[in-house]
Amino acid sequence: MEWLRITLCLVILLRTEGLYVNITYVQTAVAKGAVCLDGSPPAYHLDRGFGAGVNNWLVQIEGGGWCNNVTTCLARKTNRLGSSKQMIKQLAFSAILSDKPQFNPDFYNWNRVKIRYCDGSSFTGDVEAVDPVTKLYYRGARVFVAVMEELLAKGMKNAQNAVLSGCSAGGLASILHCDSFKALLPVRTKVKCFSDAGYFINTKDISAADHIEAYFNDVVTTHGSAKNLPISCTSKMKPSLCFFPQYVSKEIRTPLFVINAAYDSWQIKNILAPGVADPHGIWHDCKTDITKCSTDQLRTMQGFRLEFLKAISSGLGPLINTRGYFINSCYAHCQTEMQENWFAIDSPKLNNKTIAKAVGDWFYDTSEPFQRGDCPYPCDKTCHNRVFDI
Ligand SMILES: *[C@@H]1O[C@H](CO)[C@@H](O)[C@H](O)[C@H]1NC(C)=O
Ligand SMILES: *[C@@H]1O[C@H](CO)[C@@H](O)[C@H](O)[C@H]1NC(C)=O
Ligand SMILES: *[C@@H]1O[C@H](CO)[C@@H](O)[C@H](O)[C@H]1NC(C)=O
Repeated sequence: MEWLRITLCLVILLRTEGLYVNITYVQTAVAKGAVCLDGSPPAYHLDRGFGAGVNNWLVQIEGGGWCNNVTTCLARKTNRLGSSKQMIKQLAFSAILSDKPQFNPDFYNWNRVKIRYCDGSSFTGDVEAVDPVTKLYYRGARVFVAVMEELLAKGMKNAQNAVLSGCSAGGLASILHCDSFKALLPVRTKVKCFSDAGYFINTKDISAADHIEAYFNDVVTTHGSAKNLPISCTSKMKPSLCFFPQYVSKEIRTPLFVINAAYDSWQIKNILAPGVADPHGIWHDCKTDITKCSTDQLRTMQGFRLEFLKAISSGLGPLINTRGYFINSCYAHCQTEMQENWFAIDSPKLNNKTIAKAVGDWFYDTSEPFQRGDCPYPCDKTCHNRVFDI
């Protein structure tokens, strides 16, 4: 029966998520040195808005981790995360990118853009020199500017409403670039930013090491990112710390909405219990399926949740009334890009609201700023908890 279930799912998927959008390469970026790790042009996918949405722009930044040194950046040269030559030519647009009101109630008729990620630095890198041996380009910040210039020329300069969003490393980019995105647009444009699963916290791993802090420091050093992080943060602390939303987001002036699971599956796997901190693989089963965690592991994860909530409140900053957040107690990562998590009958809810409605209402200020956490796992029955194969 499994094949039947899979076939049915595929049929439903094809029927509901049938919009494929062609890739556009930013050829003019090459002359500006705004290129992917391998020197190829950056790229995006744009589906034009229509009806009442023609002058609204949703710019969604793709995720995909980072590369933190020459070895890991070289590995990306031969895949889509480091080279536009390896990117798929048509991308399925669903959930926050869907063009159907029944799947995407507030943004379906906007101009919807997916910016492809091929720099490995959440669009912050800028090293002038190209390594003569590896031929690697660290130019993420230039890529961001080059893509924005093209979108502005394609009509974004006339935007009435604009959102910068993204998931994972793209969700982090949407925080780091939020104020610079706002600055590119006319003052009359209503601009807000959403970060989905981009709120990576600075906390110790299960071996009590500062693993993620060292890792982000390597990313920032390798890519020469410090000068492209918000100066409002780097003027106050060690620049690589400004890669963490909990320190940098309080300095952001543009309205920001944070969507994240308190037990973010990427963060549990790579910040709390990374391979180096778990040499015997004791956490392996728990990381693939939260229902397989031992009592001890769950206790550790409850501690992580408390750290996460603390990081959220310390990141709110003085402009707390312009902020929104939706922090559910799910084992998930990137909830705006999956229809089942974004907007469906049985999607995750807080205060009886789906993520799509919480974010949409917050953008249009139709209600009090949505600021909701959740009771601890396993209380929330609306979650779609991830189960991984490995
Ligand atoms: C997308 O690309 C394909 C293949 O190059 C082409 O046939 C099609 O017309 C393009 N679609 C649009 C909307 O431009
Ligand atoms: C590069 O980073 C990876 C991942 O953190 C690590 O395993 C590797 O040892 C590093 N390599 C070098 C040459 O520093
Ligand atoms: C939750 O929302 C649904 C649909 O909007 C509504 O029918 C239902 O009454 C709401 N439940 C509560 C407890 O507010």
